[in-house]
Amino acid sequence: MNMKVKLGNIILQNPIMTASGTFGYGDEFKELVDLNRIGGICVKGTTLEERQGNPTPRILETPGGMLNAIGFQNVGIDRFKKEKYSFLKELKAKTFVNITANTIEEFGILANKLNDIEIGGIEINISCPNIKAGGINMGTDPDMAFKVVKEVKKNTKHHVMVKLTPNVTDIKVIAKAVEDAGADSISLINTLVGMAVDIKTRKPKIKNIIAGLSGPAIKPVALRLVWEVAKTVKIPIVGMGGISNFEDVLEFLIVGATAVQIGTANFYNPRVTMDILDGLEKYMKENEIKDINEIVGSFKI
Ligand SMILES: Cc1cc2nc3c(=O)[nH]c(=O)nc-3n(C[C@H](O)[C@H](O)[C@H](O)COP(=O)(O)O)c2cc1C
Repeated sequence: MNMKVKLGNIILQNPIMTASGTFGYGDEFKELVDLNRIGGICVKGTTLEERQGNPTPRILETPGGMLNAIGFQNVGIDRFKKEKYSFLKELKAKTFVNITANTIEEFGILANKLNDIEIGGIEINISCPNIKAGGINMGTDPDMAFKVVKEVKKNTKHHVMVKLTPNVTDIKVIAKAVEDAGADSISLINTLVGMAVDIKTRKPKIKNIIAGLSGPAIKPVALRLVWEVAKTVKIPIVGMGGISNFEDVLEFLIVGATAVQIGTANFYNPRVTMDILDGLEKYMKENEIKDINEIVGSFKI
C-alpha cells in the first residue's frame, strides 16, 4: 500500500500534515503522538523578531468552531533555528516553516535566513497586513501576492508553498497569481474572519474584536475553495479547514488536494493525526486501494 505523495520535488511519507499555529513546534506533542508517522509539520507562524502576540482573551470556543486572535506569538526566526530546529530535523515528518511578515522585503529576509538548514519547505502566510501599503492584507491583492512569492523565490533554495486566505471575492485570481510567480504548491484555507459579542457586557468576547474562525464549521467552505483552486492551477494543493477524521481527508483528496493539514482538531483530540492515519490505512485495505494517489482528484460530477 503506497501512502507517499509528492509536492513538487518533496516526497511526504503520507498526506497528513499538521497546520501552522495548532501543533506548536512538534515537541509539545511528542508524548502523545508518534511524530515519525506524520507526513509533515507546519510550525507556528514565524516572524523576523520574537512576538508576544495580542492581549487576552484571544481564544474562544463557539458552537461550530474556534475563534482565535493569537497575533503571531512566536520565538522569532533566529531562536527557531537555535532552539526548535534540532528536534524537528531528526523526525521523518518533513518540516515546513510558516513565515509571516509585514513587508515584502521582510519575507525575502526570512526566506534567506532558512537557506542554511534542511527543511521540507517554506509555507508563506500571506494573510497579513502590508504596513507599507497602509495595512492592506497581502493575500487579498493578486499583485501583492505575486510580489511576495517572487521575492521569496528569489531568496530561497527551498520548496515554496503559499497559504491562501478565504477572505477574498475570488480565490482563483490569487491562486493564479501565486502560481505565475513560481509557487511550488498552494495550501488553503486560512481562517475565516469572524467575531463574537458578550450580551451581558455588550463587549467583544475577543479583545482584538475580530478573530479567525476555524474548525468543523468551516469545512464545507474550505472544500469548495480547494475544489475551485484545484481546477485553476497545475501545482499541487494542500487542503485544510475543519478536518477532524479520515472521511474528511478523503473528501479533500477527492476534490483535488494532494495532501492535507489538520488544525483545530489537534486541540480537542491531540491524537487526531494518528486516528486519521489508522482510519485511512483501514479504508485503503478494505477498499483495495493500493496507492493513495488514485484518490486524488477522483471527483465525479
Ligand atoms: C490557534 C490558531 C493559531 C493559528 N496560527 C496560524 C499561524 O501562525 N499561521 C498560519 O498560517 N495559520 C495559522 N492558523 C490557521 C491554521 O493553520 C488553519 O489554516 C486554520 O485553522 C484552518 O484549519 P482548521 O479548521 O483545521 O483549524 C492558526 C489557527 C489557530 C486555530
